[in-house]
This record gives sequence, C-alpha cells and structure tokens, in this order.
Amino acid sequence: MHHSERDQPPIRELYDQYVLPTYARFPLCLARGEGSRVWDEAGREYLDFGAGIAVCSLGHAHPRLTEAISRQARTLGHTSNLYYTRPQGELAQRLVELVGVPGRCFFCNSGAEANEALYKLARRFGNLTSTGGRHEVITFHQSFHGRTLASIAATGQEKVRKGFEPLTPGFVQAVYNDLASVESVATERTAAVLLEPIQGESGIVPATAKFLCGLRRLCDARGWLLMFDEVQCGLGRTGDWCGWRSLGAPEVEPDAVSWAKGMAGSFPMGAIWVRDRPVTMHTGEAARLGDLYGPGSHGTTFGGNPLGCAAALATLDTITDEGLLAHAAEVGAFALEQLRGIGSSLIGEVRGVGLMIGVELDARTVSDTALGKSERAPSLQLVDCLQAAGLLAVPAGTHVMRWLPALNVTRTEVERAVAILKRVLAEV
Ligand SMILES: Cc1ncc(COP(=O)(O)O)c(C=O)c1O
Repeated sequence: MHHSERDQPPIRELYDQYVLPTYARFPLCLARGEGSRVWDEAGREYLDFGAGIAVCSLGHAHPRLTEAISRQARTLGHTSNLYYTRPQGELAQRLVELVGVPGRCFFCNSGAEANEALYKLARRFGNLTSTGGRHEVITFHQSFHGRTLASIAATGQEKVRKGFEPLTPGFVQAVYNDLASVESVATERTAAVLLEPIQGESGIVPATAKFLCGLRRLCDARGWLLMFDEVQCGLGRTGDWCGWRSLGAPEVEPDAVSWAKGMAGSFPMGAIWVRDRPVTMHTGEAARLGDLYGPGSHGTTFGGNPLGCAAALATLDTITDEGLLAHAAEVGAFALEQLRGIGSSLIGEVRGVGLMIGVELDARTVSDTALGKSERAPSLQLVDCLQAAGLLAVPAGTHVMRWLPALNVTRTEVERAVAILKRVLAEV
C-alpha cells in the first residue's frame, strides 16, 4: 500500500504498532541532512552534534560519499566472501597503512560484530598457545562493547545485561586506569585484555598514558593479547587515525583493534586489524597471530562487500584529502576551550580528545534545577532541552552530554552549539 504525503500516518503510530520498543526515542523524526545540519519532517532545522552517534564522519550527504556509494551500487553491490573483490583488498591495504604496523583485516557489519571477532581471536589464541586452554578476556567497569550475548558479558555495565542471564562465560572486569586491578582479576586462563582507549558510552573517559604503557608491559610479560575497541574513538575522531595514539603513549601498539561507526561515513561497516606478530602454538609450531583465523574459522555474508568497502574508501580518502584529522584536533581543542569558558555552575568537568567530547553535569548543583527534579536522568533532560533549542547531542551515562560531530564541523558551528548550550543552561 502506498500513502500519499498527505495521508501518511503519524510516525509514532507506525513505530508503536510495528517496531519493537527497544529504544526510548527522542520525539523527533529526521527526514534529511546536509553537512552538520539535519531537518525534521516538518522542515525544522537542527545542528547535528551527535552525527548518528559518531558515525557520519563526513557529515550528512557528503557528495564524495554519495557518489562512491551510487557508483559502486551501479557496478557491483554484493558478492559474498566466496570471491575476491577489489574494494575489499584495497580497503584492507588502506587500513593497515593507516595503522602503520604490519597486519591484516577482517570485515564485518557493526561494532559488536567486530568485537566478536576480537573475542574469538582471543579464544583461538589462548586455546592454541596453551595446553590447558586459556579463554578469558579482561575488560573494564563502565566499558561498552555492544549488544550481542558475548558483548554484554564483556561490557562492564549491569544495565545492558539485566534479564539476559546466563552471561557468556570468559569475561571478567577490572577497574579502568588501574593496573593492579587488572593483575588482581587475572587467572591462568587469561588470554587477552580488551579496552576502549577512550570510554565512550559511559562518559568520555580516556585511558592514561601510564595505564596503556603498563598494560602493554603486563600483556607482554604474561603472554596475553592487548586489544583495543576503537569502534567509537577510532579512524579520525580524536584527530588521529588511531585513537590510542592521541593519549600520550604513542609507543604502545596493540595486537588487535576493532572499528565500526565512522568507518564508512554512514554505511554499516565494521572491521578488525590483527597485528602480524609471531605466536608459538602449544605443539611448538610457530605461526603468525592472524593465521589463527584460518579458512572456515570465522565469517559473515555481508562483511566487506563492495558497497561498504567503496563507502569506507571514499570516507577515509576524503578525511585525508580534506585534512580532517588536523581539523578535528584543532576544532576539538577550540570546542573544549569554548565549553570550559561557559562558566556555568551546572558544568562539572569538560573532557575530550579531538571531536569526542563530554560535558559532565555537576551532580550537586544540577539537583537543584529542573534537570535534577525528575525520574529522567539529567543527561537525557539536557539533551531534550538542547533539541528543543535546535541542537542534537547524545547522552552518556546519567550526567554526561556527548558531542560527536562530523569531523568537518566548522568553528562557526561549534560557536553556535556552545551558544545554544550556554542559553539552555542559563534557562534551567
Ligand atoms: C566502544 C564501542 N564498542 C562497541 C560498540 C557497539 O557497536 P555497534 O552498535 O555498531 O554494534 C559501540 C557502540 O556504541 C561502542 O561505542
């Protein structure tokens, strides 16, 4: 059945009747976007500082991305991984080059799926390099790794697990930025440590350089893999291709990394990179880490299809050609400075690396305002107020508002967003 524009049912009715209620959505139906601006169905304009939760790296409808996707769609959209296709090979080369350390990639469709590939790599590694079998992965409190059964066990937040027990075994959480805590949860079955170099969902919390260096040393000493979940902080967001290199310990290199979100600029895409490092099997045989993923060991139908890879290549090339790494670092620093200058007593800490920015509300002062006087978390209420004022932001935890704008967001747009936030904070 086709509806003419005039007899379209209200969008809420369609969702209420036909879409499972997994999300408490904001009351806004977005219809189109351009750069860092989006419009709702009624034609009202918003400044988009969420970018689809750190996905639209080039903003909306970037001509180079739309052209690459439509050209590839006209040529060859999907083949499965039974065959070779040029875009996948070229994208893998591009990703290995931007990490700058020899390695190889596997392609999938989302962040959770990329992390699944890391957990399976850790188990494969642990089980093939020890006689007793090692399968445990150490992750961290307040982490977020996705919504699959294994990822909710990896994620150090009770709220994502409730009602889905029993949890997938093999994950244990330590305190973030606390090396002694990592040692205290380790066992003879530990195979790997997985962390977000900058925790995103729980409020933009970066790992310290000292912690990263300590983890690398510990992993080397104990024969564990060090794996980084760069789903949110990777591929340009921090002003560097590699989020972990923005944290003051550029000498630390991981054994494996997961990516998704901004990777293909809006096309659903994920990947992992696995370092080319030697491993010794329990049989005494020498191998390369990536070879533990031999033919038949892992797979996915859609992963790395030509359409997604063309979108990712266009995204990464545009970031390079438009100088968006340096731009993200510079505009991000400008945004931090502007936010810190707001001088509202409601703002606690302002944290950020590049264009991954968190504004933490002060729990004490906020409790006396309209934002602190309802069941709804203050972060959500602030985002509601910003939306009403024409700015889209993303909540993180109960007290943090996140800005994850497109990497090509302008200084003027940042100034406009800061002015909106300032006005909203003054009004509540
Ligand atoms: C650090 C991190 N890892 C994994 C995920 C899961 O990614 P996806 O939602 O694409 O499965 C997210 C999503 O927010 C994330 O921020």
